[in-house]
Amino acid sequence: MLEFIDQGLAELKQAGLRRSVKTANTSGRLIEIDGKKLLNFCSNNYLGLAHHPKVIERATIALKEFGAGATGSPLICGWTKYHEGLTKKLAAYKNREAATLFPTGYQANLGTITALTTEEDTIIIDRLNHASIIDACRLSKAKLQVYKHRDLASLEAVLKRSAKFKKRLIVTDIVFSMDGDLALLAEIVELARKYNAITMADYAHATGVVELPGEPEIIMGTLSKALGSLGGFIAGDAKLIDFLRNKARSYIYSTALPPSACAAALAALEVIETEPGRKKRLQQNICLANTLLGNLRLNVAVSKEPRRSASGSLEQQSPIFPIIIGNNERTMRVSQQLFDRGFFVSAIRPPTVPDGEARLRITITSEHTKEEIECLASSLRELIPA
Ligand SMILES: Cc1ncc(COP(=O)(O)O)c(C=O)c1O
Repeated sequence: MLEFIDQGLAELKQAGLRRSVKTANTSGRLIEIDGKKLLNFCSNNYLGLAHHPKVIERATIALKEFGAGATGSPLICGWTKYHEGLTKKLAAYKNREAATLFPTGYQANLGTITALTTEEDTIIIDRLNHASIIDACRLSKAKLQVYKHRDLASLEAVLKRSAKFKKRLIVTDIVFSMDGDLALLAEIVELARKYNAITMADYAHATGVVELPGEPEIIMGTLSKALGSLGGFIAGDAKLIDFLRNKARSYIYSTALPPSACAAALAALEVIETEPGRKKRLQQNICLANTLLGNLRLNVAVSKEPRRSASGSLEQQSPIFPIIIGNNERTMRVSQQLFDRGFFVSAIRPPTVPDGEARLRITITSEHTKEEIECLASSLRELIPA
């Protein structure tokens, strides 16, 4: 009866798409796998906050106070002073009236997009948005429409032909997770206003790392990347948050985050404010990686050009550097060769990225040293000649 599973796994193997996990015995800038210590160049711990002493200390206090789990969904008995304190902090950090939490970023997208849309509406998304947004659209009864990646003319064309829908919800990643390029947020919000549409922006890889001009009505984020913890959030008008607490099924029907995860994220937000040097170090490292990887003349995503912020200063770029190799097996091979040389860089293959665009997704953090980034770049130069 389960032959289809053998067949499915065999097909994946044949296509070079079979996946497996690697078990880490330590985590951080250095990660130990299979008894080997590696420099980790694929975590989303952009500011090193998952291991910050203050973050660990505050999580430990909450753990001792409230135990391992929340013991209930938010509306039943799972909402603690740590959840409440974190939502207040997030709302202030994102400059919005209110915020609420979800068990993960994935569930924040799922619950919010499905709660806000009906069969009378349309959801308009960038082609390269994250899987959680795509899955939310699949679950929603609204009509899904896709515009070309970062293409404002394509977005406007969709908006022009969508007047018949009751609501139009535009959803975009801020930092595109597999390409590392940035949304044209200010322009998207302007177009949305022109066509009476609502904008929702996913700040998963941006929170604590990248700021863009533009004020979307709905801010989605996650605690699981630069904040080093776990959990998703939405920030916006108080009435939006009230509505989601009444309608978003992934909020209502799932156990609340462990209080310790909230305490950790709260501490991480405080560290971002009190230790601006971390973000500065990250920006310096991104700058260095830009120079070194750019010099390799590899197929680094084309849209990583610096942008100007509202104040006119040059925008820092994102810490995500894709090196598109194309072929699945070759990408796996280079990832293994890097492993053998002491670097952990996961290979990303379809369906996470489009067919023929398998890649190494290198992520830079504030914790990497100049020498480590230089070493990675020179290994890449040897393994993937220009
Ligand atoms: C753009 C984007 N949105 C949402 C998510 C989901 O967030 P989480 O890992 O907290 O579920 C991710 C993370 O993988 C992401 O990259």
